[in-house]
Amino acid sequence: MTSYDYQEALKNAAKSMVRVKHPRRLLRMMVRFLDREVGLTHSSILIYDQFKARYIFIDSKGSQRIPVNLIKLDATNPLIRWFSDRDQLFKVKRDYLTTQSLSGWMEDPHSISNGSVAVEAKLRLRQLNDAMKTLKAAVCIPGHYKRELLGVLILGDKLNHESFTSEELSFFQTLANDAAMALKTAAYQEDLLAKNVELEMQKKRLQLQLKEIEALRKKEQETYYEIVMSLAQEVHAKDPYTSGHLRGVERLGVMTAQEMGYDLSGRAKDILVAALHLHDVGKIGIPDQILKKPSPLTEEEWKIMKLHPEKGAKILAPLSGFKEVAKIVLCHHERYDGAGYPAGLRGEQIPFESRIISVVDAFHAIISTRSYKKGYPLEAAYQELERCAGTQFDPRVVQAFIRAHKRLMAKSKDVEATPKTAAS
Ligand SMILES: [Fe+2]
Repeated sequence: MTSYDYQEALKNAAKSMVRVKHPRRLLRMMVRFLDREVGLTHSSILIYDQFKARYIFIDSKGSQRIPVNLIKLDATNPLIRWFSDRDQLFKVKRDYLTTQSLSGWMEDPHSISNGSVAVEAKLRLRQLNDAMKTLKAAVCIPGHYKRELLGVLILGDKLNHESFTSEELSFFQTLANDAAMALKTAAYQEDLLAKNVELEMQKKRLQLQLKEIEALRKKEQETYYEIVMSLAQEVHAKDPYTSGHLRGVERLGVMTAQEMGYDLSGRAKDILVAALHLHDVGKIGIPDQILKKPSPLTEEEWKIMKLHPEKGAKILAPLSGFKEVAKIVLCHHERYDGAGYPAGLRGEQIPFESRIISVVDAFHAIISTRSYKKGYPLEAAYQELERCAGTQFDPRVVQAFIRAHKRLMAKSKDVEATPKTAAS
């Protein structure tokens, strides 16, 4: 090979490094090139396989080629150690190794080693020589990336028995280092690709889990609603005053909460709707003669009637998922000024759902005609709510409720805004 050939070969090799996406293919091409153009007993490439944690031959060409599947070198192999070690035992550059230089060092180990450890240096050089002989190597050139030994180019003797020139050695070094760089880049890209694939899979798994959770939640919601409705049916059956206005109560209650800016996503809406339907569930435990009495109640009867929030909370207590609903039901007759029952809570101490139920329920009672009273017209009902804002009711709830109700009336004349009967 002439000097020009090497320059040209390097240029071509550099181009290939960029073009070839699979570096192992590129390394095999290098081996073929060396075998064809340089004329050696063998050209072989050893690279580090991170899965096997060993250096393995990926290709070998020539009459004395190495059986690639049989030989694997680990980190303790003298050759690997020579190019990996950063110890202070030898004072020599390790950018390549030839049998010639190795013979010289073995004859005079002091020339490259620290005198105090010459015995060890001699032993190491002998082991290195044995390793070179096993691989029929005349030249070994390491491929490093930073301080990491990625592979070794192992070349046999020249077929014409000449020595390697410094130009050839420098060419092999450049090839080995470029190949190491290509290997590292490809490994990095593969790693990146694998990470992307893993991320994509994680995303898909997560989406699947979310779908499952959503399906479960839907199922749970349906079951929850069924329980609520069956309990509400019981109340209707017992108390004729509550039937007929529950749908209106639900719609107005939800609208009022939204008007006040409460976030009703997820369970929050379920809880509010359940409480709107079930606030009088405790009436199941009130004797019929009191519940169905067509005339105003006596003081004694009122005492019994006033037990229905606590009875309602007790009915709901054993149901899992109804803890918040039970608390709202318990508080639906509390007053904003603290004069309500059963606990005399005031203001923000009362759950906002209870404060909403209190207004919605009272509104229906005000506009409803009963056997002993005539229902108010809408405007008068609004005025009555405003009159009691700050005492019986939360003023913010009253304002939000009136806005919501007016909007609902404007939107649809058919809306169930004025039921025939209403609850206490
Ligand atoms: Fe009630």
